[in-house]
Amino acid sequence: MKFIAIASSLLLSGLAAAQDQQSRPFNLVVSSSDTALNGQKLVSCHSGAAIQSLCIYGAAGGSEFFFNTTEGAQSPLEGYEAGGSLVWNLNIQPTPASLPMSFFVNPSSNVALPLFQPSSEYQPVTFSKNGTLAIFSYSDDTQTPPVQEVTAVRNWYVCQTSFGGYNYQTLAWVLGKPGSVPQNPSCISVDVTRKFV
Ligand SMILES: *[C@@H]1O[C@H](CO)[C@@H](O)[C@H](O)[C@H]1NC(C)=O
Ligand SMILES: *[C@@H]1O[C@H](CO)[C@@H](O)[C@H](O)[C@H]1NC(C)=O
Repeated sequence: MKFIAIASSLLLSGLAAAQDQQSRPFNLVVSSSDTALNGQKLVSCHSGAAIQSLCIYGAAGGSEFFFNTTEGAQSPLEGYEAGGSLVWNLNIQPTPASLPMSFFVNPSSNVALPLFQPSSEYQPVTFSKNGTLAIFSYSDDTQTPPVQEVTAVRNWYVCQTSFGGYNYQTLAWVLGKPGSVPQNPSCISVDVTRKFV
């Protein structure tokens, strides 16, 4: 329990230090009971200066992403990899900028937007053994007092979102316990899976 508390405070702080190993490139593929979305590959799309969302673009090929982790890091949950940061490379000269994913949270919405942007902070994510993208939760505050336990949550949706004046159909995350209902009525429940290129 003590170990978990320490691990969670480290992970939740999300500092980009010591992320010393990078995965091979992969696509992120959506699965959904919505047949228009099922099988679509996520594409990084411009949402401001050096800010990118994860878009659904129809026939487009799918962007390449990476998973940065710390060598030797332990997973807090069986069946899942150790937490790390989801990374996308912005192609600028002379060297591409490695951008971590973090959530943009609008305080008046329960729909958070995953964005790649220059930042020393990131949203830790994990992958299950079959490649599904998830986020570790370290406590359950629906119980009083809150219970410390590690679970893997997959509150992924595809929604019509608006950020920085850009309206797109993007990947989104619904804040709250699994099964929380997005207040954005366009949101469709999806899973996201890593496919190495
Ligand atoms: C990801 O890891 C690579 C290889 O160590 C590193 O060059 C890059 O800066 C890292 N990116 C982030 C956002 O941590
Ligand atoms: C992948 O793993 C997750 C978590 O264990 C599970 O819920 C999901 O059904 C699995 N998906 C497939 C396609 O096997």
